Amino acid sequence: MSVIDDESWIGWIDRMAQDDYVAIQQFLPNETYLKLKRFLFDKIKADEFEQAGIGTLFDNQIVKRIRGDETYWLDRDRDKSEISEFYLLVEEMISHFNRLCFMSLSGFEFHFAHYPEGTFYKRHVDQFRGRSNRLVTFILYFNDEWKKGDGGELMIYRGDQEVCIEPTGNTCVLFRTEGLEHEVLLSHKSRFSLTGWLLYQPSNVGYILG
Ligand code: OGA
Ligand code: MN
Repeated sequence: MSVIDDESWIGWIDRMAQDDYVAIQQFLPNETYLKLKRFLFDKIKADEFEQAGIGTLFDNQIVKRIRGDETYWLDRDRDKSEISEFYLLVEEMISHFNRLCFMSLSGFEFHFAHYPEGTFYKRHVDQFRGRSNRLVTFILYFNDEWKKGDGGELMIYRGDQEVCIEPTGNTCVLFRTEGLEHEVLLSHKSRFSLTGWLLYQPSNVGYILG
């Protein structure tokens, strides 16, 4: 049993292959979405988020001028039992990409992110944490109350095209990681998301499927 039907995956991956990105509203079945959201807010309440980093720079002041989010990295051994459907979804997504795009994805890494009011993430290309094997970026938003004026939009820069994506609850964005510049605009409200990368031959971080 799959979390999302094959036809949907085929349509989305087709759009991504054409445009380098795809934005999907009402992405997850409601039950699955609510379970993930509950998990996220449990971790927030338990204060398990940490200030995010940027590669080799570790001075907190410098980091906050570039990105202001706090993250909770998922760990399959620790977290899988609670959000098993999410892990099924990731395996499903990887197998569709491999089949339809002849990719050799074999792993993944994900973190929840919280952008407190007044934070942003300046224009960047996703960093590789010492590796170059992130091929697909995945983002899912949890801001059910989001409305225009709240900020925190995702901007994607593709040639001279600028795409603005509203971070509304259960909207998913997939994009080709390599070379695609993007930015999180200043958020005027707390902003929540799950961000991750599908990996080609993961080394020491992320997981090998199996
Ligand atoms: C990131 C990122 C975008 C978003 O975490 O690298 O660019 O919309 N996130 O949260
Ligand atoms: Mn990014």
